[in-house]
Amino acid sequence: MARALIALEGIEAGYGGAQVLFGIDLEVRAGEVVTLMGRNGMGKTTIIRTLFGLLAPSRGRRMVAEREMTQAPPHKIAACGLGYVPEGRQIFPRLDVEENLLATARQRGAGTGRPAWSLDRVYTLFPRLKERRANMGTQLSGGEQQMLAIGRALMTNPDLLVLDEATEGLAPVMRGEIWSAIGVLRSDGLAILVVDKNLEALMRIADRHVVVEGGRVVWTGTNGELAADRTRATRHLEI
Ligand SMILES: Nc1ncnc2c1ncn2[C@@H]1O[C@H](COP(=O)(O)OP(=O)(O)O)[C@@H](O)[C@H]1O
Ligand SMILES: [Mg+2]
Repeated sequence: MARALIALEGIEAGYGGAQVLFGIDLEVRAGEVVTLMGRNGMGKTTIIRTLFGLLAPSRGRRMVAEREMTQAPPHKIAACGLGYVPEGRQIFPRLDVEENLLATARQRGAGTGRPAWSLDRVYTLFPRLKERRANMGTQLSGGEQQMLAIGRALMTNPDLLVLDEATEGLAPVMRGEIWSAIGVLRSDGLAILVVDKNLEALMRIADRHVVVEGGRVVWTGTNGELAADRTRATRHLEI
């Protein structure tokens, strides 16, 4: 089996006194595409924030690159090969596209087995960003901002790309472009953890799915298992 890039084990976390996660187990292995699904407010973003060390778990263990990193600060965790595309994109508004891409860029030692990311490679993936490279963050459409957020995360040369709401709020054409870029990254062998509401799109790219409700994993299985068990797996997704 491929090595585990991340593993959350029995994670409990919340905000102040309000517990949100009640024992989350989540693993992503090298080269895998895993989805995190669930209705709004079920804890997906909280899981991702806990994964990146932005939220401290009150219980459980966080492993990154097969090392125990439960107490590690965010920058140490990210340096272990996690690229973050946060909900709401959070691009730097006062920097232009190129400066955004370079701001958090990171070289990582050989061994990922994949070619290193560069501005040119990001521009090949998203030609639109090249056209817009001198534009400020604030001058971009939502879809362009999402491309930029993905490009910025790729410039850290991650082993695992984590996308929280990959296509939320984007026009259909932009959604299509984001999904096809994710498909290209997948064929390159990049591991991806993705949150989105579009089940059909997710089923086209994912190896495995994790469904959460009320801060607990309520269904998990392979893409084939989801197709075979669709009613049971997706009853936690309908509004
Ligand atoms: N900063 C915060 N402070 C307090 N409660 C929060 C905060 N962020 C999220 N929550 C609560 O945590 C729960 C899970 O939210 P979240 O992880 O954002 O869900 P999802 O990403 O699945 O929509 C919700 O009940 C939400 O109201
Ligand atoms: Mg969320």
